[in-house]
Amino acid sequence: EKGGYAHFMLKEIHEQPQALRDTLRGRLSPDGRRVTLPEVGLTPEEVRRLRKVALVACGTASHAGLVGRYLIERLAGIPVEWDVASEYRYRDPMLGPDSLFVAISQSGETADTLAALREARAKGAKVLAIVNVVGSSIAREADWALHTWAGPEIAVASTKAYTTQLVAVTLLAVWLGQAAGRLDEDGAARILAALRDLPAQAEQVLAQEAEVQRVASDLARHDDVFFIGRGLDYAVALEGQLKLKEISYIHAEAYPAGELKHGTLALITKGVPVVALSTQPALAPKTLSNIQEVRARGAAVIAVALEGDEQVPRHADTVFTIPRTDPLVAPALAVIPLQLLAYYAAVLRGHDVDRPRNLAKSVTVE
Ligand code: M6R
Repeated sequence: EKGGYAHFMLKEIHEQPQALRDTLRGRLSPDGRRVTLPEVGLTPEEVRRLRKVALVACGTASHAGLVGRYLIERLAGIPVEWDVASEYRYRDPMLGPDSLFVAISQSGETADTLAALREARAKGAKVLAIVNVVGSSIAREADWALHTWAGPEIAVASTKAYTTQLVAVTLLAVWLGQAAGRLDEDGAARILAALRDLPAQAEQVLAQEAEVQRVASDLARHDDVFFIGRGLDYAVALEGQLKLKEISYIHAEAYPAGELKHGTLALITKGVPVVALSTQPALAPKTLSNIQEVRARGAAVIAVALEGDEQVPRHADTVFTIPRTDPLVAPALAVIPLQLLAYYAAVLRGHDVDRPRNLAKSVTVE
């Protein structure tokens, strides 16, 4: 049942190229210039009237939501609020008929996400679910369900559900951008071409597995690890640190790279591992100076950078590379080495990777 893999998590990491293909299938027009999402029932007129989009989810799905925030604001020009579902209701969110509420959930059964969705409905918002499990509560209670086609995810640590959620939010952002008249077909075509290449590029990243395993054996000896990045790289840093914490039990924290010097830099001392993401060319010079900052304090820098980047390798102890792509699509590639890093660190520490302590696959209590 694990298809020859030692754990479901490793199997699911390797299923990502196929899961990404399945989630894209039928959603790009044959000429690659438009997204077709018949399951989303908003008319172009309704999209143009939207005053906000709310992205709400828990855990890994919330990290996909954070990527969605950047993309929807950038491509569709609609203000986006982003919240974890367990906090959302406590601030009495302002929602109405001009709001699109988007719940993101692998299982479709997460209690907090479902409760937030019900509140959004009660306030008259339009409700879309990005969900993996067909027929789940969240899929049924939403106005529309945009499915990720990751297939069954068994390991508690979410991997292929996350990368397919990234594809789904990207498709949604392009679709909203086109419906709102903010994104022209050339602009859409560039992003859609990157999505098309994504499954094969994910395979290329997976090919670095042996190298990641070697780095993990070193990482597994540490008790504190920091993850830094800016923009979309920060969103990926959040996912990387969660993955590491939940299965290896290594304390990990993610920071926006520019926030370090507002306090956390005090914790960076000789030998502390810092995982630094730099996949966004527009932000690379600033991230590089943050890498130099932690390096100067003796940090062991594990970087994730674009192929051909000449700067980052000069300042990092190890570099995992991802193929060049549209910056908006990079998160789905950048996360892969971090998933493998967490996996191998957990295996080396002797943990039950697929069933980490205290955690359930689907959290059905608030
Ligand atoms: O089923 P959901 O996507 O709603 O689950 C949300 C979180 O519980 C889930 O992503 C959790 O954070 C994972 N264990 C992370 O790997």
